[in-house]
Amino acid sequence: MSARPGSTLLAGVRVAWQTVPPGGTRRDVADALVARIATASTGSPVIVGRRCERCGASDHGRPVVSGAPIQASVSYTADVAVVAVADACRVLALGIDAERGTGTSEDGLRGLITPGQRTSLRRWTRVEAVLKADGRGLSVEPGRVRIERSLHGVHGSIAGDSAARGVTTARGAPGIRPRLLRVRGPRGIVISLAVASV
Ligand SMILES: CC(C)(COP(=O)(O)OP(=O)(O)OC[C@H]1O[C@@H](n2cnc3c(N)ncnc32)[C@H](O)[C@@H]1OP(=O)(O)O)[C@@H](O)C(=O)NCCC(=O)NCCS
Repeated sequence: MSARPGSTLLAGVRVAWQTVPPGGTRRDVADALVARIATASTGSPVIVGRRCERCGASDHGRPVVSGAPIQASVSYTADVAVVAVADACRVLALGIDAERGTGTSEDGLRGLITPGQRTSLRRWTRVEAVLKADGRGLSVEPGRVRIERSLHGVHGSIAGDSAARGVTTARGAPGIRPRLLRVRGPRGIVISLAVASV
């Protein structure tokens, strides 16, 4: 499924998407998008890499931007790369997740978060966005992610966080409770953004 390139600004976060061309590498497409947005907003050339919160490796894990104070997150679905980019002076942590489908509850998604329970792609993308903002990803049980609605919007958190911190490096953002936003992206793709502001 292809999508026309596009972008939107939400809570100070630039979200952009682009189809990976045939023969192209999705990570190259995502990183070029991140670099373009980062350079346009800061005026500095940047390098986009990865850093694993768990083992410290630089070939996988959360995107890291060198050369400017920028937070970034990346997701792929079908042949579309989706990125989120923000000023690290305003945003402490960022997570984005995109899935092809609809946002409604589906039987096929039963057990994805909680054993035996149905869920929706909206909820699943929110859970993954929170785990990416946290930096530990799916090494944290998805069922530990709490999603709460209030007058101040929808926020995510991770239950029992302090115990889990003992098994990861300290590079994550402890105790974050990111705001969760719906991104209106390409048709047929559900995108959720988790933003923890400074
Ligand atoms: C992050 C994760 C939730 C993404 O799942 P997914 O839905 O399959 O993949 P998506 O397309 O949405 O996202 C992929 C991107 O997530 C990002 N990512 C990977 N690990 C991440 C993490 N721990 N935190 C934040 N972002 C992460 C990367 O930018 C990756 O893109 P890349 O392949 O170009 O590097 C899942 O892959 C994961 O939890 N990985 C880490 C597991 C882990 O900690 N392993 C230990 C290794 S030592």
